[in-house]
Amino acid sequence: MADLKGLILSGGKGTRLRPITHTSAKQLVPVANKPVLFYGIESLAEAGIRDIGIIIAPGTGAEIREAAGDGERFGVSITYIEQDAPRGLAHAVITAEDFLGDSPFVMYLGDNLLRDGIVELVTQFRSKQPDALILLTQVPDPENYGVAELDGDRVARLVEKPKDPSSDLALVGVYMFTPPILEAARAIQPSWRGELEITDAIQHLIDAGMTVDPHIVRGWWKDTGQVQDMLDANRLILDDLDERIEGELIDSRVEGRVVIEPGVTLERSTVRGPAIIGRGSRIANAYIGPYTAIAEDVTIDGAELEYSIVMEGSSIRDLEGRLEASLIGRNVRIARGPAQPRAYRFVVGDNAEIAIL
Ligand code: TTP
Repeated sequence: MADLKGLILSGGKGTRLRPITHTSAKQLVPVANKPVLFYGIESLAEAGIRDIGIIIAPGTGAEIREAAGDGERFGVSITYIEQDAPRGLAHAVITAEDFLGDSPFVMYLGDNLLRDGIVELVTQFRSKQPDALILLTQVPDPENYGVAELDGDRVARLVEKPKDPSSDLALVGVYMFTPPILEAARAIQPSWRGELEITDAIQHLIDAGMTVDPHIVRGWWKDTGQVQDMLDANRLILDDLDERIEGELIDSRVEGRVVIEPGVTLERSTVRGPAIIGRGSRIANAYIGPYTAIAEDVTIDGAELEYSIVMEGSSIRDLEGRLEASLIGRNVRIARGPAQPRAYRFVVGDNAEIAIL
């Protein structure tokens, strides 16, 4: 078999994560202070894949290039492939044709997180050599997913968001393909939403008599396309955190599994883990509760936070109530206004969501 390549999809519109995605790629939102995309690159590297193509969108591609670079620090080589518009996952495969050549490849959605990585499924793919292998997981609400119907140990049929599901096995955002997928992607028509769907391309393989094997995921899997999922992914990753305190603590308390990076100052504050505080952040007169990730150079003064992600350079000051279940973008300022007149004052971008006391 030719060497296995990796194809990570980091284009897309990201409409469900606006307004964060108005200015940045959702794949770069930090989960436990590391961009979602990096977990995917690391999973591929761990499975021995050295040649990775990353699909990028014209608007956010530069930022992704800058963040992941040539891949050297992950021990891989990265090729960037621009997709002119988000015309679907199967369209992304067609776009990557030159990069893929006649290699088999893992396709990994850049906003997905898979706890146990992909080593097991790469091993299954290598030993059984099916034409394609898809990852599946049991879900309580299959009507919201693409689901697979099995026939023995083969995939018999894929159905997109079935009204009356006959299987509870949902497709996870990781797939293994061989070159026939390119032909299948070119043969299908756009769906009702105008995209070339990967499920249609896989169904095309099945209809042509090719073998599509299932692999059931055991550990957790998260698609971080929406705020609640992003916060949940942050919780799951923080749950595996190892304690490490390197910053400076002044009249402060740290409880449970907490990472305090170098250059952090903690004054008159309590941090209750699992939580992480990034380099150069200043936390004063504050309570940081479980499942919170605070990125670099953030200021928290006179506030309580819990179950939230705060990105780089933001500041949160003098809040009366506790901030929770929030995703705060880069360089955001949240503070109490002047005493009089007593009023809310907002400068808020499109599609933001604010819930007040
Ligand atoms: P989705 O989350 O299904 O789509 P999206 O990113 O456009 O988001 P939304 O539905 O909120 O508008 O995409 C899954 C992953 O695949 C994600 O990392 C983006 C990427 N992608 C591409 O690279 N090219 C594409 O044409 C599409 C549709 C997605």
